[in-house]
Amino acid sequence: MIDRIITEVAKREFSRAMRFEEGVGASLPREEDRGRLLYLHIPFCESLCPYCSFNRVVFDNHLCRGYHAALRKEIQLYRDYGYDFTGVYVGGGTPTILMDELEKTLSLAADCFSIREISVETNPNHLTPEHVDILKRIGVNRLSVGVQSFDDGLLKAMGRYEKYGSGASIAERIVDISGQFDTLNADMIFNFPTQTEENLNSDLDLLINTAVDQVTYYPLMVSDSTRRKVEGALGSFDFRKERNFYQLISGRLAPYYRFSSAWCFSRKGSMVDEYIVDYDEYAGLGSGSIGYMHGRCYANTFDIPRYIETLNKGEIPLMASRDFTPPQQARYDFLMKLFGMELSIAFLRGKYNGRGIGYLWSEIFAFMLVGGVRYKRGTFYLTDRGRYYWVIMMREFFTAVNNFRDFCLDR
Ligand SMILES: C[S@@+](CC[C@H](N)C(=O)[O-])C[C@H]1O[C@@H](n2cnc3c(N)ncnc32)[C@H](O)[C@@H]1O
Ligand code: SF4
Repeated sequence: MIDRIITEVAKREFSRAMRFEEGVGASLPREEDRGRLLYLHIPFCESLCPYCSFNRVVFDNHLCRGYHAALRKEIQLYRDYGYDFTGVYVGGGTPTILMDELEKTLSLAADCFSIREISVETNPNHLTPEHVDILKRIGVNRLSVGVQSFDDGLLKAMGRYEKYGSGASIAERIVDISGQFDTLNADMIFNFPTQTEENLNSDLDLLINTAVDQVTYYPLMVSDSTRRKVEGALGSFDFRKERNFYQLISGRLAPYYRFSSAWCFSRKGSMVDEYIVDYDEYAGLGSGSIGYMHGRCYANTFDIPRYIETLNKGEIPLMASRDFTPPQQARYDFLMKLFGMELSIAFLRGKYNGRGIGYLWSEIFAFMLVGGVRYKRGTFYLTDRGRYYWVIMMREFFTAVNNFRDFCLDR
């Protein structure tokens, strides 16, 4: 019952929050001298997975090279506006699809900004010695590989078996490259329509055996536009098994991993953390990227040719933006910080001139009442029960972002 209420309230609130103003007002916020995350989006993939609602298109060599050249122009524009970043996260699509271009783009970012850490997403077919050598030369600290499941039946239904090989061979490749990066992360998904507890336990056996540094275990998220494709390829989808699956995953991983967010597990004793939680603000560069700085959320155009054309004219390719009021910003912090397990009153006071907590009484009261959040010495913590509530909220948050993306792509 509580799960249903949280789902419905989160769905309504996040779809409201994702209403943007178009064109006019879509400007970059003013700059201050603060370290932030630079997110770079590479939307190209060898072929498209049915469940994925990220901004991605089928790879085209010429277009991808033109895209990287445009992305480098966008990086230079941010530098010219006076921005600086301490971390860079390259997400996709498949960022490692053209390694020479990725190397040029990341070297430029390193020349322009005070980058101290680099994270790159990849797919299992790129876990080769050649790719690993280049990634290490570039200075990548964290490599994140999309596994989703080690189950061959599921991989075949997702169209990933043909592209990336069997579950057993993916696990082997992960083991082969372990220790080469500060953090090797595996992206997994649970609550696939036909998934059973037995399937999930087999996935967890293989996963634990790889001894990967970090595991991000996403619940399957289905946006309005992917529902038909997901159900066509994988079967009919609902949330009924989600809570049990999440508890099974948490229990199996607990002896080896600690929670660095509600769905991210970091090997005990390691220093790895989750980027979205570590950085309060981020700039989103690349087609369809979404950034959040100074309480303004803004999105770049989703149209790749237009993205390239706008940058060739020397302009920032922003499409829409939205300013959040201080109470809305505080709610965003409440969501993100507690997703990362804790929210301190000192942080809120510092950020909102001594207020902050005053904006959040109803949220804090509601979640303390249902046992999702507890308070100790100036800090709110997510409880065992609260972790699943945050999985629900983040699932609805990302689904709202995906629906916004679909809305923009349809236009
Ligand atoms: C967008 S992909 C980009 C990296 C790479 N191409 C890959 O497939 O891993 C990053 C991760 O997002 C997760 N993801 C994508 N679509 C999802 C969905 N509909 N529900 C849950 N997780 C999803 C997958 O775990 C995936 O590995
Ligand atoms: S999951 Fe990864 S490989 Fe598959 S379409 Fe999405 S971005 Fe591309």
